[in-house]
Amino acid sequence: MKSTGPEYAQDQFKAGYQDRFGGFLAGCEERLTRISHGPGGRLGEACALTLAAGGKRLRPLLVFLTTKKGYEVDERIYAAAVAVELVHMASLVHDDILDGAQLRRGQPTLAARYGPLIGAAAGDYLFASAFKTLAAQGVPRAVSMLASASLGLSRGEFAQMEQARDHRLPVEAYLMRCRLKTAGLFSAACSLGSLLSGCREQTISAMSGFGRSVGMAFQITDDILDFAGESAELGKQAGADLRDGTVTMPLMIGLERDTSLAGLLGVEPRDPVVAEICRRVRDTGALDDAAKETARHVAQAQDAARAAADEIDAEPLILIAEMAAERKK
Ligand code: FPP
Ligand code: MG
Repeated sequence: MKSTGPEYAQDQFKAGYQDRFGGFLAGCEERLTRISHGPGGRLGEACALTLAAGGKRLRPLLVFLTTKKGYEVDERIYAAAVAVELVHMASLVHDDILDGAQLRRGQPTLAARYGPLIGAAAGDYLFASAFKTLAAQGVPRAVSMLASASLGLSRGEFAQMEQARDHRLPVEAYLMRCRLKTAGLFSAACSLGSLLSGCREQTISAMSGFGRSVGMAFQITDDILDFAGESAELGKQAGADLRDGTVTMPLMIGLERDTSLAGLLGVEPRDPVVAEICRRVRDTGALDDAAKETARHVAQAQDAARAAADEIDAEPLILIAEMAAERKK
């Protein structure tokens, strides 16, 4: 699953670049805090709690890392970074309501804490704030990029609901869902960084492709971790996809190799059944094969970063692409 040893790219990335992006991420956090407390009352409390639960802030980081070499970060870049993170936060709040999830980032989800109505209201507030923040910069194309990614999120999530428990789904349908549900927002983050810092069209397009490939690698890894990870480490319940009927690549491959698994999928997904399915999927070698698909997207992302190296610093992006596949949560 990893080409260069545990945490290797992550350690290298931190050692080489933390000084460069630490101040930027702190600036994003300040802005996010201001926005999420904005409405006050219980709505503000719910939004602020979502923010306080943390997160990797990978999408803001991508906005920053895809700016043109030598570009001095300004309010446009902050606005784009904050906007993509707000859309991401909003989508997770809604996703947890739809999934009936109890845990996210090691904390009770908003819906578990306040119920689905306040959860939905907070998600909507965060989502609307994203567009207010980005629109204030007066760049219609940037707003359109974020809107397209958000439409993809909605379509991808809906496809996931419609395709639940469909164990004959072709792998292409799964990959399309990953593209809509996850890769589109990564792609928007990278397109925004390069667009708003004045890169050439060719570079913007390369960065859009870079983000898409990183997003694919990230989502497939997420789906592998659902079969391989421990709940405590993931900060959310392992085996959640099996519980809510989401059919992902590891299960698709596992079912092809061990057809008797189909029988278990009809049984109510209580803990011992979920653990048994996870174990049997792992025994088929499906996780390694899904990891090969991840590696293909990592390589594509790295090629896209190299192709844009005249305008963008490719090195941190090459490491980020690798990190998408080696993460543990
Ligand atoms: C998490 O993935 C969920 C998403 C990436 C997308 C959720 C999108 C929506 C709810 C659509 C509407 C929202 C907006 C704001 C447009 P996952 O469920 O695979 O991962 P998980 O295991 O972390 O839940
Ligand atoms: Mg989910």
